[in-house]
Amino acid sequence: MAKRKSSAANPRRKTRSESGRLIVVANRLPVHRVRQGGKSVWKMSPGGLVTALEPILQDTGGAWVGWAGSTGAAPKPFKSDRIDLKPVPLSKQELDSFYAGFSNATLWPLYHDAIRVPVFRRSWWAAYEKVNRRFAEAAAAVYKPGDTVWVHDYQLQLVPGMLRELRPDAKIGFFLHIPFCSEELFARIPRRREILEGMLGADLLGFQTRLSGQNFARTARRFTSATGKDTELHFGDRVCRVSNFPISIDFKRFEGMATSAEVLVKAEQIRQKLGPERRILLGVDRLDYTKGIDVRLRAMEEVLRRAKFTAEDIVFIQVAVPSREDVAEYVEMRSSIEELVGRINGQHSETGRVAIHYLRRNLAQEELFAYYTLAEVMLVTPLRDGMNLVAKEYPACRLKNDGVLLLSEFAGAAEELKQAVTVNPFDIDGVAHSIEEALRMGKAEQKRRMTAMRRYLRAHDVYDWADSFLGALKK
Ligand code: ADP
Ligand code: G6P
Repeated sequence: MAKRKSSAANPRRKTRSESGRLIVVANRLPVHRVRQGGKSVWKMSPGGLVTALEPILQDTGGAWVGWAGSTGAAPKPFKSDRIDLKPVPLSKQELDSFYAGFSNATLWPLYHDAIRVPVFRRSWWAAYEKVNRRFAEAAAAVYKPGDTVWVHDYQLQLVPGMLRELRPDAKIGFFLHIPFCSEELFARIPRRREILEGMLGADLLGFQTRLSGQNFARTARRFTSATGKDTELHFGDRVCRVSNFPISIDFKRFEGMATSAEVLVKAEQIRQKLGPERRILLGVDRLDYTKGIDVRLRAMEEVLRRAKFTAEDIVFIQVAVPSREDVAEYVEMRSSIEELVGRINGQHSETGRVAIHYLRRNLAQEELFAYYTLAEVMLVTPLRDGMNLVAKEYPACRLKNDGVLLLSEFAGAAEELKQAVTVNPFDIDGVAHSIEEALRMGKAEQKRRMTAMRRYLRAHDVYDWADSFLGALKK
């Protein structure tokens, strides 16, 4: 992975640890197994969180506590450069009840405005508590006085409280990567008080948007003994601060990759295959029902039905990474999307002119960048999304300041990327009109919007995000 300069050499980094290390606690470790020279070795995963935190962890010689991705006994703790990796085991039964169950069939749909009906089972809750305790104990075991602990996401909301009991003096931060839903929806969780008290164990709670932070504070005041204002809650004899820290991307790395020779060659190959004269629209997502993949497919169907643009002129490419395939809702959404693609192509494709290309796979980085550089219109239409990094990656790759980002108003990114063409994903006709508007948008207007979004993203990258959170936590 691309190495970022260490804080000593990086004047922008404000939060270089003067004392103590950073301990990250997240459901997944930042590494995955790959085959190399006939052997299986660990490699850093290229996600945003890893990119942002790796340099800080390298600086401080920090640790990362997380699940290694397979069930049964966990691998032994190991080091990657200066980072101590502490694998936490999950049994097959815990994978079903803690991960697929309470995390992804209860909390995930609920927090995304209950766009699928959340399922509540007592055995799932018991597993959630047990696994959270295991993570908290693993963090406590590596913790030394002066360290800072940063816990991540909805799978581990009990960890701050559990760790606080084990290490009362620790500096603990928690960041929720997904939305925090309204008080009314949160009230459905049978053990709602325990979750809120778990989060209140942190010194600082970070959310993607102001609204999520406000939802949390309101809910905490209603269901726990917490008092105070939205940004500062008093709980027991402690204060828990609440703020929004919108996550971002490594803007410079994306810019660099988008102009690399490898990506340009790949882009040219794809363009030739698709037909050099056709205009490309793109969607890139995990195959998740929150992403509104069906919304953009239906909107594309409407655009093709109106026939101002046909499969001769335009082509839509949807790339979708398989995700959480043990959860029933994901299996159902996959078949409904595949049926939709088949229906649209049956109606609107011609031989050699397929209207919708559907690639269900994880793309290699250079291929993903090639698609971003080729797409004239990027369709990001989630029904609800904490942030949506794809919406930030696309502008980062548009070095000529052209292309149009169509962005759902229900993505966290819409709060920042004001120059995107915003759409309401619940209004398919409206999305179809916006797609036509995007296809007709003049170069000057594209440039005006793209330049502004790129300027914003350049100044608010993922390093800035990590610095802001850790800087606030140290106060
Ligand atoms: P989420 O975290 O819910 O999956 P985000 O949009 O915030 O959604 O982040 C998704 C990340 O996964 C982005 O960095 C994106 O580039 C990457 N990604 C999504 N789909 C693919 C794909 N098919 N191939 C490779 N990377 C992908
Ligand atoms: C979202 C969540 C992350 C999660 C990721 C991939 O980004 O906020 O916590 O790791 O999706 O999902 P998975 O279930 O494969 O870890």
